[in-house]
Amino acid sequence: MGRGSGFGKVILFNEHFVVHGVPGIVSALDSTADAEVKKIDEGGIIVKDERKGSKGYTEKKKIQQKESIDRMLEAMGVSKNVSLDIWLSGNLPGFSGLGASAASSVAIARAMTQEFGMSLSDKRINEIAYEAEKAYAGTPSGIDNTAATFGGLIWFKKNLEGGPNKIERLNIKEPVEIIIANTGLVANTKEMVLGVAERKRKYPEKYNPLFKEAEVLVHKARTALEQFDLKRVGELMNECHTLLQGIEVSCKELDYLVKLARDNGAYGAKMTGGGGGGCIVTLTPGKELQEKVASVIEKEGFKVLRTKIGIRV
Ligand code: MEV
Repeated sequence: MGRGSGFGKVILFNEHFVVHGVPGIVSALDSTADAEVKKIDEGGIIVKDERKGSKGYTEKKKIQQKESIDRMLEAMGVSKNVSLDIWLSGNLPGFSGLGASAASSVAIARAMTQEFGMSLSDKRINEIAYEAEKAYAGTPSGIDNTAATFGGLIWFKKNLEGGPNKIERLNIKEPVEIIIANTGLVANTKEMVLGVAERKRKYPEKYNPLFKEAEVLVHKARTALEQFDLKRVGELMNECHTLLQGIEVSCKELDYLVKLARDNGAYGAKMTGGGGGGCIVTLTPGKELQEKVASVIEKEGFKVLRTKIGIRV
């Protein structure tokens, strides 16, 4: 039996923009997806998904999950005809937007290599998980699988020429409380990513300036994080949400939650991940503020995860 884990993640700055080579900032969460893999004699690949899913999440992603496993086997040079029992579990909520697909791909890749007696570096695991991500996101940036593999707070820039991506560990003074709130809507990341690429091509006069602004903004965000200027980080998160609205990946439910969080004292709030549903992330330093904002959102009937960014691994 092979075992492995992958971190969940929350994108703090520049989802979607990262797909086109603009840097992004991501924090791994302390929640993981865990996998166990066992070779069996026959029966193909059987996945038993015991993760607590938001309603419909695991069902909607089943076909993409199958393709992702085939892609990983191919990347590892293992025949697709192998028969495997795969169990998925872990404490990462099945909210759309927390990198559950990347976390599970990293977990499965690690568990499979253990079961096959291979010894692969994290760098190689990350590459294999990137192949898997293509099943979920079409042309992913690689930011999700990078956070899922390495953990921590990461500056990420995709290399559009196909060379190695820029991956830098960022350090902040201490971990900071955040809330992740779920709209309950499951969106298709692949379609969202495709939609942005299509609109960017069709309306360059509208989209190109927004991409330039995102580039400027993320550098300011890095400085604010490194200086631990949390008020400024929050303001920049708000600005990032406006840019994401500009490229049409937010939706009224996300905008509603963002406003609710800000109105109740969050330093900043924005959608996180692919958008079109999924989650928001709000910066709420200190247990007291975190609890206040979380309970307001819960009272409105939305599911919430209380966690921190910048947790050391
Ligand atoms: C999804 O978590 C993040 C996106 O930017 C896609 C990607 O970077 O691959 C929407």
